[in-house]
Amino acid sequence: MTLSRASSDSARQATEEGNGKLPRHVGIIMDGNGRWAAQYGMPRPVGHERGVEALRRTVKAAQKTGLEYLTVYSFSTENWRRPFSEVSALFALLKTFMNQDLKRLKSEGVRISVFGTREGLPEDVDALLDRALEETRDNTRFNLGIAFNYGGREEITRAVRGLAEDARAGRIEPEAIDEAMISSRLDTSGFPDPDLIIRTGEERRLSNFLVWQSAYTELVFMDVLWPEFGEHSLNEALETFASRDRRFGGLKSGAA
Ligand code: FPP
Repeated sequence: MTLSRASSDSARQATEEGNGKLPRHVGIIMDGNGRWAAQYGMPRPVGHERGVEALRRTVKAAQKTGLEYLTVYSFSTENWRRPFSEVSALFALLKTFMNQDLKRLKSEGVRISVFGTREGLPEDVDALLDRALEETRDNTRFNLGIAFNYGGREEITRAVRGLAEDARAGRIEPEAIDEAMISSRLDTSGFPDPDLIIRTGEERRLSNFLVWQSAYTELVFMDVLWPEFGEHSLNEALETFASRDRRFGGLKSGAA
């Protein structure tokens, strides 16, 4: 796949000319921090630190390009398997990010949403996530979803358990359960399904990210390691997205 280097403006033009081909919601699996650090002989947490810088650049670029929703996979339910020191470093980075960036994001009209379970999270992290939700809840210009302690199957399991409890208590009829009801019980309720999921860092899988929501999502896998991601890479992914023909199970446009 060869794609030309494009400025944000040309990516925007490319997608708008594609008639509605600018995605509303983009999800990103930010992979490759550890390998980036190893390349430079640095400890893995340094890769995560650079990953936060890449996240800042990407949120800025997403706002500039006109996306409405961006969801980033920051800590998965499987990441607990990593050494305690790395898990602690990731929690510390979330705190730094919130402490340094929340005020600015709030003033830019960004609404923060958090997806995932709070179970097992340290109290200060839990409180900080609540603060981010609380302080930005009235914003409407841009939506940033932070998937933290998130796993798609865990999210679906919690939703299904809630529905089962409601059915047992007689609050809903089992027959009333449909796809829309399940979607409305997920953490991402209020966000449209992602049009595009980008995964950096060479792997080609979803790793339990937005598994229900991504049934018809376009997937773009990029070799760039996350700390090197930025406006240019985002535009490259948007150009790839604009070139795709989304059929949602229907026929190719023009075919009859
Ligand atoms: C994957 O790289 C990345 C993560 C597990 C964490 C992503 C987190 C950030 C970018 C920073 C934290 C974000 C916030 C909002 C504070 P990896 O460690 O699996 O890399 P590797 O596959 O090269 O080892």
